[in-house]
Amino acid sequence: MGSCAPPWCVLAAAVVAAVMVTSLAEVTTTPPPLPVLPVPTAAQLRWQRREVIMFFHFGMNTFTDSEWGTGREDPAAFRPAALNATQWMDAAAAAGASLVILVAKHHDGFCLWPSAYTAHSVRASPWRGGRGDVVREFADAARARGLDVGLYLSPWDRHDERYGREVAYNEYYLAQLHELLTGYGSVSEIWFDGAKGKNAKNMTYHFQEWFQTVRQLQSSINIFSDDGPDVRWVGDENGSAGSTCWSTVNRSMITIGEAGIEKYLNTGDPRGKDWVPPECDVSIRPGWFWHNNETAKPLSKLLEIYYSSVGRNCVLLLNAPPNTTGLVDDADIAVLREFRAALTTIFGMDLAAGSTATASSERGGGGGFAASNVLDGRDDTYWVPASSDDGRRKEGAHVHEHWIELRRPPSTAGVPFNVVRIQEHVALGQRVEAHDVYVDGAAAVANATTVGHKRLHRLPAPVAGRTVRIRLASRRGPPLVSAVGLHLDPFAAGMM
Ligand SMILES: *[C@@H]1O[C@H](CO)[C@@H](O)[C@H](O)[C@H]1NC(C)=O
Ligand SMILES: *[C@@H]1O[C@H](CO)[C@@H](O)[C@H](O)[C@H]1NC(C)=O
Ligand SMILES: *[C@@H]1O[C@H](CO)[C@@H](O)[C@H](O)[C@H]1NC(C)=O
Ligand SMILES: *[C@@H]1O[C@H](CO)[C@@H](O)[C@H](O)[C@H]1NC(C)=O
Ligand SMILES: *[C@@H]1O[C@H](CO)[C@@H](O)[C@H](O)[C@H]1NC(C)=O
Ligand SMILES: *[C@@H]1O[C@H](CO)[C@@H](O)[C@H](O)[C@H]1NC(C)=O
Ligand SMILES: *[C@@H]1O[C@H](CO)[C@@H](O)[C@H](O)[C@H]1NC(C)=O
Repeated sequence: MGSCAPPWCVLAAAVVAAVMVTSLAEVTTTPPPLPVLPVPTAAQLRWQRREVIMFFHFGMNTFTDSEWGTGREDPAAFRPAALNATQWMDAAAAAGASLVILVAKHHDGFCLWPSAYTAHSVRASPWRGGRGDVVREFADAARARGLDVGLYLSPWDRHDERYGREVAYNEYYLAQLHELLTGYGSVSEIWFDGAKGKNAKNMTYHFQEWFQTVRQLQSSINIFSDDGPDVRWVGDENGSAGSTCWSTVNRSMITIGEAGIEKYLNTGDPRGKDWVPPECDVSIRPGWFWHNNETAKPLSKLLEIYYSSVGRNCVLLLNAPPNTTGLVDDADIAVLREFRAALTTIFGMDLAAGSTATASSERGGGGGFAASNVLDGRDDTYWVPASSDDGRRKEGAHVHEHWIELRRPPSTAGVPFNVVRIQEHVALGQRVEAHDVYVDGAAAVANATTVGHKRLHRLPAPVAGRTVRIRLASRRGPPLVSAVGLHLDPFAAGMM
């Protein structure tokens, strides 16, 4: 270096740089755009792609025909005649779920595993002569079917006398978490809720200690609560996410169990600093527990729930309660099978197949980020607008608009569809804040705000057409779209 004096070394450097630029352009690939923080963890992405998971509410309430037990139940009441957790997995398989969550203890405090820290458990019941363990049978049956396991341990405990004594109860609760998270293999999700009766004793739960203990014991688990930290409650129990639904929130704004946060949970926060996507918990029956006087919701209702949960960037957690025999009612399994068959009918055929895709611009002139990526059926490829393309700026706002258009082949242009599916590549952050869909340039057939992992538009009536254009607006970096699909839902209103 010392022997090079200006201007020669400047010139030499310029020549080297020019050569490097040329060869870079020849042999390298345009890198992906920067993420827009926050982004999901690997475990959160895995969870999001499950789309439908199952809940099993079973316990003392099943036998006392109630939803909220008192905590004064006699363990002798717990006597399923023919409990078969393998049969419960038939329900999960019928629904096409990949994760099953068991209520290990509900608010009544009765434990479905023989906890060393209380006498109020299956050990004191007549079932399997007091030597049974529902959690064990559940976890074994799930794994035998290739399903992942989740658990729910109610913070509110109406039985335990330590409840109301802050340190003693938190120690008890943590010890039980320890039992559940070390004794039953890998646990993929743990559920905490904020439910508490009006007259319950005052009790501060040490959620931070609980969460950190959970992480220490199961490093790839997702923790569910109003406040995440991994998965948040959607704010209602009827499977309905906000039409605007961000995966992001500010956790600092959420207090677990506090009334008034439902709206925030339901829609998320476009400026949220934390990635905590919502899960929609809903029962296929009116109650969470099995009651002889109730039946499963019909297919039409389950599909409506699917569109308003999975179709709005959420994971759907469907509850199927086993009955007093210890089996999921065959009629419930039948409706779950019908539900999955309907989803296969609707989404198994993509009426966008064979289309050509064009866009307002393509990063790197196409390459790895071409518009055609939205049609390749893969989650890890996506369309990106060119970095030089700021989109069309809406007046007075830092909103950038881009578009992508599918041109269907003559062979399918006349085939009607009534569902439009749009998916963002959320691994690099959720970005789209408004979008609309046009068929053959006519007035918008759908318009809405967020997209996220998956947005499903159920059109009021089937439409046919040669071109489908989607306009997308974002102020959080360019929109990254991984899929666009067109489907025919024969179960929609007006089709049957
Ligand atoms: C439990 O259920 C499974 C799946 O339905 C079935 O194959 C098995 O025979 C049942 N076991 C008993 C003991 O009934
Ligand atoms: C409950 O206890 C906490 C402290 O543990 C206290 O701050 C709060 O005011 C109490 N609430 C009621 C309703 O007594
Ligand atoms: C769902 O629950 C929320 C809050 O509990 C309620 O406001 C809303 O009307 C319910 N929606 C339906 C479709 O039942
Ligand atoms: C969430 O936090 C961000 C960053 O601090 C802030 O800009 C935003 O306003 C917050 N959201 C709400 C609803 O306060
Ligand atoms: C069925 O019975 C249970 C328990 O008696 C009750 O809580 C529930 O409201 C009843 N369900 C219907 C739909 O009537
Ligand atoms: C529970 O469901 C199983 C499977 O459908 C059925 O054989 C059994 O009779 C049901 N038990 C009750 C109490 O309804
Ligand atoms: C839908 O379109 C109308 C009219 O163009 C517009 O005013 C509205 O903001 C759009 N809604 C959404 C959610 O983008």
